Amino acid sequence: MKSSVLRAAACTVALVSVAAAALAQPKVDLGKREFEAKCASCHGIDGRGNGPFAEQLKTRLPDLTMLARNNGGIFPVNKTCEIIEGAGKGHGTRAMPVWGVEYTVQAAEALPDLPYNQAVFVRSRIMALLEYLNQLQVK
Ligand code: HEC
Repeated sequence: MKSSVLRAAACTVALVSVAAAALAQPKVDLGKREFEAKCASCHGIDGRGNGPFAEQLKTRLPDLTMLARNNGGIFPVNKTCEIIEGAGKGHGTRAMPVWGVEYTVQAAEALPDLPYNQAVFVRSRIMALLEYLNQLQVK
């Protein structure tokens, strides 16, 4: 009897600590994480174009916080999506990597044996990036 009470108490403590750990987990912002890993080297952490790689590029980097302002106050979702994915034409020198291709390769490498839909892998990252870029826009 006594041991079962103790066990129940131990269980409760364990459950409470698991719940506390779950609550304490930081929220993952996939778009922010992708941006900082894949884009900030050129575009800068704040998106304004002052990443460590910027001075090695021949092209001047655009200020990614001005996309909405330059489009009458509305974030240009389709255009930005095409630019990131690489389907859009006429974007200067294309010093900017084609992320649709990059992510497709990455999906194949990360999940070689799984019947995983690469298009979903690519699209979800581009969507997360669009959402994050939207957060960076100056008002
Ligand atoms: C190797 C440097 C480099 C990296 C890394 C890079 N970009 Fe670019 N990006 C550029 C350059 C240079 C331009 C200017 C257009 C051109 O020359 O293609 C550009 C243009 C853009 C534009 C168009 C902005 C406008 O005003 O039309 C968007 C949006 C963009 N980048 C988003 C991203 C995102 C999102 C990532 C990460 C997934 C990224 N870039 C990673 C170099 C880079």
